[in-house]
Formats: sequence, structure tokens, C-alpha cells
Amino acid sequence: MNVYFGPMEGVTTVQFRRIHAAMFPGADRYYMPFISPTADHRFTARELREITPENNLPARAVPQILSKSAEDFLWCAAGLADMGYDEVNLNIGCPSATVTAKGKGSALLRAWDSLERLLDGIFAETKTAVSVKTRIGWADPSEAERLFELFLRYPIAELILHCRTAREMYSGTPHTEAFVLAKETLSCPLCYNGDLFTAEDVSAFEKDMPGTGAVMLCRGAARDPALFRRIRGGGAASREELRAFHDTLYEDYRSAYGRLNGMRRMKELWGYLLHCFENTDDVRKTMMRTKDTDVFDECVERVFTHCPLADEKPL
Ligand SMILES: Cc1cc2nc3c(=O)[nH]c(=O)nc-3n(C[C@H](O)[C@H](O)[C@H](O)COP(=O)(O)O)c2cc1C
Repeated sequence: MNVYFGPMEGVTTVQFRRIHAAMFPGADRYYMPFISPTADHRFTARELREITPENNLPARAVPQILSKSAEDFLWCAAGLADMGYDEVNLNIGCPSATVTAKGKGSALLRAWDSLERLLDGIFAETKTAVSVKTRIGWADPSEAERLFELFLRYPIAELILHCRTAREMYSGTPHTEAFVLAKETLSCPLCYNGDLFTAEDVSAFEKDMPGTGAVMLCRGAARDPALFRRIRGGGAASREELRAFHDTLYEDYRSAYGRLNGMRRMKELWGYLLHCFENTDDVRKTMMRTKDTDVFDECVERVFTHCPLADEKPL
């Protein structure tokens, strides 16, 4: 079974992917956070930094496109193919209000005509393999059946299914029965996504759903940089490894964006990375609230020197 590191806007940046792939190899692929092409058909400097293939090495990275326009999607996919990408991923699952207000992401799951038009337009013309990342419906899990029937019409390279509706965001438990239905209904390769946080979760899933081609891990992998290694039988991250990973990324952010914005970016990651440590309640509050980079750096020092590792079973 393949194991992918999924896209997390603001967390799995190009710097994160590169450093993670070098220091904690094991993910078969990284999916990039979405880029959202506009009608002027030009990549922004920020997008180019994210998608330039050399910037992503040594990771195998797949770009993701968020769009409700087949024309904009196809322009973007062609540009990415010219850079050497052999697969692009269509996001029709993002439930965030800023995205759905524009009719993109999971909003397409409640706009059937727009969704059909988009998929018809993309699959009639695309010269690049297109995978799809989606949820099981807008408001009710029973919508999955109709959605899968629609997907059957297209040569989807791989369907990555987050087994919640858009309305559910991340609440409750994933409807894994919808994944069973997908396996029964669809012929394209399938990837399961949702609430697999540990190596044990992944092996339990594999036992329950034998023959599944791939799983995608996101929050669990951001919480535990060594997750892919552990899935492959290796050990937990040591304090030294976490420190080296942290310091390399922080240094890259600081040199790219300056001290203040470097700190802001690291805070996003610390929201997850603090799971590697225990007794972090006090330091977490100060770390997340402070706007002072010196105070933030002291918090980082405190975590690495005083907080016990949550899992003391390194390699
Ligand atoms: C902070 C954050 C940012 C995300 N950004 C994206 C994104 O850019 N594209 C996307 O398809 N999904 C995005 N997701 C959704 C994840 O890829 C994934 O589907 C979700 O976290 C569930 O998987 P998990 O239970 O393994 O975390 C994001 C999730 C989070 C928490």
C-alpha cells in the first residue's frame, strides 16, 4: 500500500516538503497545497516557488489545482506538465468558507451542473493524468452513491476520498462505509484519507480494507515527522532529529521571509509538532500568543530542553 503525505496549506510548504523528504524519507508522494489559477493565466512568484520541480527535490510531489473553470484548470495543468509533472490533482473537497464562497472546492458538491461541466471540460481535453481529491458529499453521506456514479464516467487517475461531508468539516468519525462503497463502485485506483494518525491506525486500516492502493496522511504526519518511517517499521523521531528538522526549516523560513514571518510560519507547524512532547500546556500558550521573536525562540528552547518526548522509543 502506498502512503502519501497530503496537502496542508500553511504547513506542508515547499521548504517543509523538501526538508521532510530529506530528513524523514518514507512518504511515497507529497501532494502540494492547492494553487488557484486565475483567468489571467500566469503563475505568481509565490506559486512558482512552490511548484518549481527542483525546489521540491528529493520529494516526489504532485501539484494540486483548485478551480471551478475547466479552462483555467487546463491552462494550469498544461503549464505544470511543461515543467515535467505527469499528474495533477483536482481539489473538489476543500470545505473552508473562503473557498466555498467562491464556488470552488467542496462547494462543487452542491452545484451538480457546475461539477459535471468542470469534469466534462477537464477530461475531454487534458493531456496530463488528473487525480481527484474529494469528500463524500456536501451535507449527507448518502450523496456518495450519486457522486461515485458521476466519477465512473471519467478516466480519473486516482480518487483520494476524505470520508466526511463538507458540512462535517473535521468533526465526528469518518464514514468508512463510503470507502467500501467506492471500492465496490469505482474502477479507478483509490486512496483513503481521514483520521489515520499513527502507524497503528494505518496497519489497522490495512487489515480492515485489504487491497487498498494508498492512504493519505495529513495531520498525523504533521504531528509526527517520523510517521512514515514508523509505518515502515522504523523508530520514533529522536530529540536530536526533531531539533535538526525544526532548526533547518526555521532557518529556511527566516532567510526567505524574515524573522517575524518566519516565526509565524513556524507557529503553524508547532500547532502540530507539540504533540511530540509532553507537559507543554504552559509553553504552548506563550508560544502561540507571542508576537516577539525572542520570546518565541525562548519557548522553542524550553520545549527542546525541558519537555519530555511523548514517545521515548527512538530508532
Ligand atoms: C491546515 C490544513 C490545511 C489543509 N490544506 C489542504 C489543501 O491545500 N488541499 C487539500 O486538498 N486539503 C487540504 N487539507 C485537508 C487535508 O489534506 C486532509 O484531507 C485532512 O487533514 C484530513 O486528513 P487527516 O485526517 O490525515 O488530517 C488541509 C487540512 C488542514 C488541517
